[in-house]
Amino acid sequence: MSKTPIRVAVTGAAGQIGYSLLFPIAAGEVFGPDQPVILQLLELPVALDALRGVAMELEDCAFPLLHGVTCSSELETAFAGANAVFLVGSKPRGPGQERADLIRENGPIFTGQGRAIDAVADKDVKVLVVGNPCNTNCLIAQAQAKRTNPANYTAMTRLDQNRAIGQLAARAGVPVASISGLAIWGNHSPTMYPDYENARINGKPVTDVITDEAWLDGEFLKTVQQRGAAIIKARGKSSAASAAFAAMNHMRDWFRPTPAGEVVSMGVSSDGSHGIPAGLIYSFPCRVDAAGNWSIVQEVELSAKARAKAMASADELLEEREAIKDLLG
Ligand code: NAD
Ligand code: LMR
Repeated sequence: MSKTPIRVAVTGAAGQIGYSLLFPIAAGEVFGPDQPVILQLLELPVALDALRGVAMELEDCAFPLLHGVTCSSELETAFAGANAVFLVGSKPRGPGQERADLIRENGPIFTGQGRAIDAVADKDVKVLVVGNPCNTNCLIAQAQAKRTNPANYTAMTRLDQNRAIGQLAARAGVPVASISGLAIWGNHSPTMYPDYENARINGKPVTDVITDEAWLDGEFLKTVQQRGAAIIKARGKSSAASAAFAAMNHMRDWFRPTPAGEVVSMGVSSDGSHGIPAGLIYSFPCRVDAAGNWSIVQEVELSAKARAKAMASADELLEEREAIKDLLG
């Protein structure tokens, strides 16, 4: 017997990331090859014509798992009964800007969207915030969660995890599948910390395989932390296909148990684990259980050097929270 379709809402669906995200979702690459989906797409009124064009293309793919598409600029229509929500719609930064510079412009979007999700989505809805600055935008949306589960509001740092894995694999001259246990700590910003000390290459500590610590603490960290800006400089636009792929990874890995020995980086609500202030949306190494609930990995130690970086990123998130505290009511 075929499964009941799940409702998947995507905001900013006519944008760059939306265009790379919708087709793999419809093809079954996120929720599974036997899971039908209904796509509920949200756009600004000005982009609705473009969105209808995307919907035509979805129709033209004749995806067997795609059981419906709605296009709307009404929050309540887009989020009605949603089981999974990708909050992408927002302004990307341009050259010379930091993601945090978008906070006053993008932040208010997430108040209204958070309120609407809480009002009309499935009560167990899983929400992924992609729009920047994603950790603090997630905090803004989560502040509206009264009926839905506040733990189910998460921010995307999976792109940073993927970037870090790519860099380590290239340096060690191994396939990316040889890297395990790599997690991002902190904010999706230049203060993020890709924790190479607890990662492994073919089962060995990274530092046994890549012995050049100056590279690990220097070029490696900087490349991962600044990758978004480097892509904007090179393309003139922010990352899109890799961001969509990371969003797919995040949601897929939240809907299935984490394989043994692996971790997934998720921006989640801190409960004070590892000394990170409770309530911040902070990226930790996480694992997902069979019921689809994430938990922060506890049995991981940070060195003094790593801890200082992890705390600096928490301090930055405290500052961001202060800057939008009027949006948390
Ligand atoms: P884009 O400009 O191509 O598309 C954004 C779309 O969102 C546009 O079509 C726009 O009309 C729509 N939009 C804007 N405000 C909206 C609202 N209030 N409701 C519904 N739709 C709205 O941008 P993009 O490249 O797709 O990037 C989207 C966001 O994702 C940006 O904030 C970007 O910085 C962020 N991003 C995050 C990561 C990450 O790793 N967390 C990675 C890449 C991009
Ligand atoms: C990224 O990391 O590529 C995105 O957050 C876009 C950006 O502004 O850097």
